Amino acid sequence: MSDRSLTAEELQTARLSLRRPTEADIDAIFAIHRDPETCLHNPSDALASLNEAEELYQRWNDQWQQCGYGYWVVRRHDCALQLGFCGIKPMELHGMKVLNLFYRFATSAWGQGFAGDAATAVTTWASQRVPVLPLIARVRPANIASQRVAVRAGLTRAQHLDGTGYDGLDWIYAAKLPN
Ligand SMILES: CC(C)(COP(=O)(O)OP(=O)(O)OC[C@H]1O[C@@H](n2cnc3c(N)ncnc32)[C@H](O)[C@@H]1OP(=O)(O)O)[C@@H](O)C(=O)NCCC(=O)NCCS
Repeated sequence: MSDRSLTAEELQTARLSLRRPTEADIDAIFAIHRDPETCLHNPSDALASLNEAEELYQRWNDQWQQCGYGYWVVRRHDCALQLGFCGIKPMELHGMKVLNLFYRFATSAWGQGFAGDAATAVTTWASQRVPVLPLIARVRPANIASQRVAVRAGLTRAQHLDGTGYDGLDWIYAAKLPN
C-alpha cells in the first residue's frame, strides 16, 4: 500500500485501485465465481446464478456496514474492468478471533502479480487499522498460487492451526498471532 492510500473504502497501489464494491459489481462477482477454474480448490464458493451473486454482494455489503471494511474490488487505475476481489472478514479459528484474508481473481488476470499486490495492500491496511486481530489465510494444500500470494502478503505457515474447512483440509498461513 503506498502513500496514495485513501480511506478504507479505497486503497491504492502503484498499479491497482481497491474499492468497496457496489451493486454495479454484481455481474463481475457472478462472472468470477461461476468460473470452475476460480473455484477449483474451493468449490463451495462457486456461484450458480445471478441471484446467488446478489446475495453474496449483500453479505459483503452488510459486513462493510458493520465493520467499516470488507472485500474490495480490484481494478487497474486506467481500466474499469474488475480484475478480482480481495479483502478481510472477521471469523473465529479454533476459538480465536481472526481476520480471514480472501482473494479471487478472473483467470484473465492471473500471473501478473495483481493478487500479490492487492493482498499486500490489504494486509498492510489491516495491520495498521485493525491491529488487534491476527490475520490468517485458509489455503487448500494443492493451491500453490494462493500459498505464494499469502507469503507475498507477509503471512507464514502456521501448521498448528490447520483444520478441516468447507472443502477439506485447509493449510493455515498467519501473521500477528499472539505469543
Ligand atoms: C490465487 C490467485 C488469486 C493468484 O492470482 P495471481 O494474480 O495469479 O497471483 P500472482 O500473479 O500475484 O502470483 C502469485 C504467485 O503464485 C505463483 N503462481 C501463480 N500461478 C501459479 C500456479 N498455477 N502454480 C504455481 N505457482 C503459481 C506466481 O508465480 C507468484 O509467485 P511468486 O510470488 O513467487 O512470484 C488466483 O490464482 C485465483 O484467483 N485463484 C482462484 C481463487 C483462489 O484459489 N483463491 C484463494 C483461496 S484460498
